[in-house]
Amino acid sequence: KPAYVDYFGKIHGILLYKEFIQYWNDVETFEARPDDLVIVTYPKSGTTWVSEIVYMIYTEGDVEKCKEDTIFNRIPYLECRSENVMNGVKQLKQMASPRIVKSHLPADLLPVSFWEKNCKIIYVCRNAKDVVVSYYYFFLMLTSNPDPGSFQDFVEKFMDGEVPYGSWYKHTTAWWEKRKNPQVLFIFYEDMKENVRNEVMKLTAFLGRKVSDELVDKIIKHTSFQEMKNNPSTNYTTLPDEVMNQKVSPFMRKGVTGDWKNYFTVALNEKFDVHYEQQMKGSTLKLRTEI
Ligand code: PPS
Repeated sequence: KPAYVDYFGKIHGILLYKEFIQYWNDVETFEARPDDLVIVTYPKSGTTWVSEIVYMIYTEGDVEKCKEDTIFNRIPYLECRSENVMNGVKQLKQMASPRIVKSHLPADLLPVSFWEKNCKIIYVCRNAKDVVVSYYYFFLMLTSNPDPGSFQDFVEKFMDGEVPYGSWYKHTTAWWEKRKNPQVLFIFYEDMKENVRNEVMKLTAFLGRKVSDELVDKIIKHTSFQEMKNNPSTNYTTLPDEVMNQKVSPFMRKGVTGDWKNYFTVALNEKFDVHYEQQMKGSTLKLRTEI
């Protein structure tokens, strides 16, 4: 494989895949519609899970409709451009309203049109240590990603913001500030793991939908880790091995909190914690790593 740096460029100081940057103008000038909903996360923070919950809310629990197509066709990935596989902008332009949009962009890089049109935005945040473990495995299985090196090497890159979408610390804290805007709902992966019903109720309230207890039960069942792992429309198995090699690691990998404890050595954890404190000291954002 080519060297790590050869895969990426920088856009407004953020490390990103070269193909995405090549078509950046299409993203920057993207025209939102007022009834668009955007689901934003730093990668590996629960995008797919929240996306499927929201799709269930939108279809009032129509499981058949949810299974009609893969999640990346139902909820296009805005800035994604990869040859022959995805073109988020094109997919969205062709889509009937109301559209649901997936993005991993930092707050200041999200197309301005979403802010101008006052679109609803859901931001999902997950603790940094579990994100970096999940991201490491994603690097190993996504063939268009470079070799991440050892886990320790990759954690160092993550700490330096030298991974796609840049600094986790800046991404999360900037979006945390945006939560003050009523068009933004900020939720946590850890809260979903602890009490998914609560978070589903938050999502339905934010989307202005009334849901029965039966519908909430149905949503929770359909979007459980096990169901989503076995569902071809959510587990990315429709992508060929040449794109995503799930023999290396499944997209639906573990779906738990605290898996980082199996990967961080004591020394790495101490180093990470010191750096974390420095990076997060100006923010009131608090994440839980101990559950
Ligand atoms: S991506 O590629 O950035 O869009 O990935 P994303 O969906 O944000 O994150 C993938 C991680 O979310 C886990 N996941 C889930 N956890 C619990 N319940 C459900 N239903 C669920 N669906 C996806 C997935 O397993 C990845 O986390 P890890 O820790 O790697 O297992």
